[in-house]
Amino acid sequence: MIIGTPKEIKNNENRVALTPAGAKELVKRGHQVFVQHTAGIGSGFSDEEYVSAGATILPTIEEVYAIADMIIKVKEPIEPEYKLIKEKQLLFTYFHFASYEPLTKAMVESKAVCLAYETVEKTDKSLPLLIPMSEVAGRMAIQKGANYLEKPLKGRGILLGGVPGVLPAKVLILGGGIVGTQAAWMAAGLGADVTIMDVSLARMRYLADVMPANVKTMMSNEYNIREMVKHSDLIVGAVLIPGAKAPHLITRDMLKIMKPGTVLVDVAVDQGGCIETCKPTTHENPTYIIDDVVHYCVANMPGAVPYTSTLALTNATLPYAIQLADKGWKKAAQQNNDLIPGLNVINGDIVYKAVAEAFNMDYVPVEKYLAD
Ligand SMILES: NC(=O)c1ccc[n+]([C@@H]2O[C@H](COP(=O)([O-])OP(=O)(O)OC[C@H]3O[C@@H](n4cnc5c(N)ncnc54)[C@H](O)[C@@H]3O)[C@@H](O)[C@H]2O)c1
Repeated sequence: MIIGTPKEIKNNENRVALTPAGAKELVKRGHQVFVQHTAGIGSGFSDEEYVSAGATILPTIEEVYAIADMIIKVKEPIEPEYKLIKEKQLLFTYFHFASYEPLTKAMVESKAVCLAYETVEKTDKSLPLLIPMSEVAGRMAIQKGANYLEKPLKGRGILLGGVPGVLPAKVLILGGGIVGTQAAWMAAGLGADVTIMDVSLARMRYLADVMPANVKTMMSNEYNIREMVKHSDLIVGAVLIPGAKAPHLITRDMLKIMKPGTVLVDVAVDQGGCIETCKPTTHENPTYIIDDVVHYCVANMPGAVPYTSTLALTNATLPYAIQLADKGWKKAAQQNNDLIPGLNVINGDIVYKAVAEAFNMDYVPVEKYLAD
């Protein structure tokens, strides 16, 4: 198969969907790989590395789209890319269709096959191509939080791990899923006094088993949250209710009972945030202050660490990309059912129910396309 990896053109996106190592794996299997000039540079991979791996560099994005049977990228195509997409071309990338109608309509019109990273799903309901980014964001939440606790950045001026004779900072993590667990490991490693709140007893039993002694668990409810925020220095929002907006666990009035200089990192900002006063920010302007409380609400946290994020993402996507290249999307999905819910648009039909419902468009069951 001919595989193309364009350079990401969305503002501030430095990740790339294929590393030189990934290109080599595909070439080894007899596929042809075309990478756009400087596509990997933001993540630290030069054109020469791709060439050594057996890929061919193309100067323009137009040439990459024109030659490829399968496009592997990171972010959803944006407007200038719509017209480059060909009928029957397979696009394997993040799409987040339900949040943007013009993209959905453009992909329907293109008659391409759109396989979305975010809806590839294992039988245990886990989302293998979202997990790596949650891992990055969870770890980064503590790195950022520790930084913004410093006085010159308007924080309380407390060192996360304390020093001998001085107590460490208190870190409260709302939600003990992927983001929350990774945040807890980092905060615990730095010596902070960590509490994870969740509503799932099973999850908290697991966390209590595997976490070090400076991590405690507590049932998430309004009473407990109100008590905990009074004494916390850093609060991480990491709640997810699949398919729904995040609940506002921290309400505006709670800011008044927090210590001045408390830092809130709301990782769940992409689902509306679990802190009522959260509004999306960018890496250029990551924080704002309300009632002396520092808010960090960057919606694409992994974008700041493209080297790590690219490797984490491609470690997860490459095995699927290889199956798609070896077998074509139909046979690959028939043989690996994780890929079936990833199919969102095929040949002008929306085959993912929630996307069709979001825009009141026609829905065609994916089975129509999977039958032999
Ligand atoms: N900002 C970013 O750059 C970025 C990056 C990656 C992920 N995210 C977001 O981070 C959020 C968390 O993702 P995840 O992968 O950890 O999800 P997850 O499903 O692994 O974990 C969510 C956890 O929240 C818990 N929960 C649900 N309701 C709760 C409540 N009322 N109180 C406390 N806990 C509750 C669940 O039991 C679960 O353990 C999502 O919104 C995700 O989209 C943001």
